[in-house]
Amino acid sequence: MSITEKVRSIFPEEDKIPAEFRLKSPVFQKEYLVNGELCVWNGAMQEVFSPIWLNTPAGLSQKVLGSYPLLTEREALDALEAAVHAYQSGRGLWPTMPVCERIRCVEEFSEKIQEKKDEITHLLMWEISKSYQESEREFDRTVDYVRNTIEVLKDLDRTSSRFVAEQGIIGQIRRAPLGVVLCMGPFNFPLNETFSTLIPALIMGNTVIFKPPKIGVLLHYPLLKIFRDTFPPGVINIVYGDSSEVISPIMLSGKIDVLAFIGSSKVAEILKSQHPKSHRLRSVLGLEAKNTAIVLPDADIDSTVRECVRGSLSFNGQRCTALKILFVHSRVAGTFLERFIDEMEKLKFGMPWEEGVTITPLPEADKTAYLKGLVEDAQRLDAKIMNAYGGTINKTFFYPALLYPVNSRMRVYHEEQFGPVVPVVPFNDIETPIQYIIESSYGQQVSIFGKDADVIAKLVDVLVNQVCRVNINSMCQRGPDIFPFAGRKDSAKGTLSVKDALRIFSIRTIVAAKDREANKEILTKIVKERKSNFLSSDFAS
Ligand code: G3H
Repeated sequence: MSITEKVRSIFPEEDKIPAEFRLKSPVFQKEYLVNGELCVWNGAMQEVFSPIWLNTPAGLSQKVLGSYPLLTEREALDALEAAVHAYQSGRGLWPTMPVCERIRCVEEFSEKIQEKKDEITHLLMWEISKSYQESEREFDRTVDYVRNTIEVLKDLDRTSSRFVAEQGIIGQIRRAPLGVVLCMGPFNFPLNETFSTLIPALIMGNTVIFKPPKIGVLLHYPLLKIFRDTFPPGVINIVYGDSSEVISPIMLSGKIDVLAFIGSSKVAEILKSQHPKSHRLRSVLGLEAKNTAIVLPDADIDSTVRECVRGSLSFNGQRCTALKILFVHSRVAGTFLERFIDEMEKLKFGMPWEEGVTITPLPEADKTAYLKGLVEDAQRLDAKIMNAYGGTINKTFFYPALLYPVNSRMRVYHEEQFGPVVPVVPFNDIETPIQYIIESSYGQQVSIFGKDADVIAKLVDVLVNQVCRVNINSMCQRGPDIFPFAGRKDSAKGTLSVKDALRIFSIRTIVAAKDREANKEILTKIVKERKSNFLSSDFAS
């Protein structure tokens, strides 16, 4: 079957979907979680459609997955009040609880969620059209993240359980929570990226309001009861709806201490500006990126192409870390493009349950039209689609397009496409990609491909001051999750990793006393008789 025919017939008839991957039943979610209660919503609902269409006798029809509550300002403020009350200016049960007890709650949570793996993975696949294998990987990576967080916190707690004596002062330094955290994750890693802020925020003693992204909502439904049953009332509250309706009043209240947001810088800016005392707000942001590959003339073309294809097209290029523009030295551009097309054509495209599939339908509304616009703009300015059938569209499906030669007049040179369009820019002078990176609004990562250690070393020294991770002969990526994940300029604020996240959702606080006999006696009595949760030699084991 030719590529065009395959794209034309890409959407299946429902009864042709293998039984194990069919959606068991739609999820008509009515509940939301506030103050330890699953409240039932009887108001307006948001219908959820899958990016997957079904071939029916009446033509193509978009699969309905269910619906979720469109809450209003009132429910949002109830959730806020619950979180504020549970934190109780740092005097609540949760923020004053010994670390080992909070760890126990999170451990219980990580055990219970595993029973939901199958349900969550299916919903993840249907809601964002991530391949089943990748959906499973996202789930497992999330559970590992939670477990690693617990281990790292135990380590941190062991160190903090010691007293330090310096220049006649005795002190104990521990990390204390910050207050009420608003957590919002992205659609492309709705579970993993959300939990990479939500879990550290909780385990450090903060209370949380969580709003799932616009796409990738129902997959959180199986977790609602587990959240309710594992954490004390008000510690975690989950709301749904339009951000302008539910998030704006929360931000405008000024009662949010930390904004953990992964999405666009435009939205982050709006949310931050709504806070009446934004200087008080700690922001942990993961935003846009336009990660660049620099292919030097001596690069090993085979392995470079493999990394660039995976780097730019895995999960349809919908990774914040994806390679979004490739600068290839003119001397090797011809071979590079030829090999790239070969590799690209090997990528399996189809439905997310198909074994080994990489290119699947896109979940964002009007995404294919946006990508088409980028491609047409580049074509108007003399770029060509290098691969046969590149840019072929069927509803939510977009067959990858390799664009060459791309230049600075084109939108795709500047905009984060977040989809299967790969722009290639030829260069002769290494200053061309360097200047591109310097002038870019983004500063997350870069990949250098080449063999000459002298050339690579010089580039590394320039680029480490522009981005936060320089990859050598390797695609850009966030993982492993113990590595720091950060960005400069419009790409991020704050560093995330298992360890860094624990730091970012807490603040070092010291109890100190002059090294005098009377003070020592007080400290000893408090510690020995376990009078304080903070001032204590106990540690989580
Ligand atoms: O969208 C951003 C994800 O965190 C990417 O993670 O680079 O490890 O696939 P990854």
